[in-house]
Amino acid sequence: MYLRNTWYVAARSDEIGEALTPMTILGEKIVLYRRADCMPVALEDACPHRKLPLSMGRREGDLVVCGYHGLTFDCTGACVASPTQPRIPSTARVRSYPVADRYGLLWIWMGEAEAADPATILTIPNFDNPTWGSTRGGSMTCRCNYLYLVDNLLDPSHVAWVHVSSFAAKGTEDTPLQVTVKDDGVTVWRWMRGRDLPPYYAPLVKFKGACDRLQHYEVRYPSIAINMSIYTRAGEGGDPDNLPADAYVMVSYHFITPIDENTTQYLWMQHRNTDPNDAAITERITAGARTAFEEDRVILEAVHAGMANKATPHLDLALDAGALRFRRGLQALIDAERPRQAAE
Ligand code: FES
Ligand SMILES: [Fe+2]
Repeated sequence: MYLRNTWYVAARSDEIGEALTPMTILGEKIVLYRRADCMPVALEDACPHRKLPLSMGRREGDLVVCGYHGLTFDCTGACVASPTQPRIPSTARVRSYPVADRYGLLWIWMGEAEAADPATILTIPNFDNPTWGSTRGGSMTCRCNYLYLVDNLLDPSHVAWVHVSSFAAKGTEDTPLQVTVKDDGVTVWRWMRGRDLPPYYAPLVKFKGACDRLQHYEVRYPSIAINMSIYTRAGEGGDPDNLPADAYVMVSYHFITPIDENTTQYLWMQHRNTDPNDAAITERITAGARTAFEEDRVILEAVHAGMANKATPHLDLALDAGALRFRRGLQALIDAERPRQAAE
């Protein structure tokens, strides 16, 4: 089950142009394209006649013409031409989805269209900050349920075993986790004090010697993760909103969009509070993230298969507390939508 009245990332904005582009989100077939004025359009990708994907048809200006018998739809999903007969059937329409470009991403609202408000799209504070550096990031398709990605991004513990050559360092295996629950999601976090820098961060951080290190793993409902790493000199770690001048901050944004119950689109970008114009550092961060997230993907796909085919019961560990709170919170939101969905 999915939360529907929320914004998901469908694609990067520059991946959708004038071509009819099919994709599946929450199990629904959708065709995306841009109008001549560049505004994005998302329509149900199934002609109401014989359900041929409209993405197999063609554009005629801003209209979409079905590739089987020519029913023609406008950007709202209304049928505006039926060439094989004089009368357009009253049921000839396809669903249209609210979409919006923000932060170089194309967001899609999968619930009730009248409830879609672009003002509720996640805020990314330093996206345009000229003193911060950024990576475009990357994307991949994972053959696992989206909630395994969410679990993973509420689980700092896994770093010690999955990311041995990058993010792991002394303290990641046994420092206790804190859980903060809010209305919009869950954060699992911990400060590790007086530790060595991990290999991935050592060349990026602007001071030498021991550090205090914050792992802040936050996921907002239903599936956007904000992963913040902060490094200060040992003894200086504290309030993330009041850091020393040479603190290093890296924020990774993870946009997790269910394709269906078994497949997930995973897209990320990263922002750092240093070196805004250093292409070599940007490249290093980009490559490191890709390597690490591939390590996650291998694990999570195997976890999905293992949990789907388990012959004996599984168990939970203390490290799962945040993820389990998140799953309960998300399920409550999904359940609250159900009466509205049933009435539709
Ligand atoms: S399937 Fe689209 S018009 Fe026939
Ligand atoms: Fe990971």
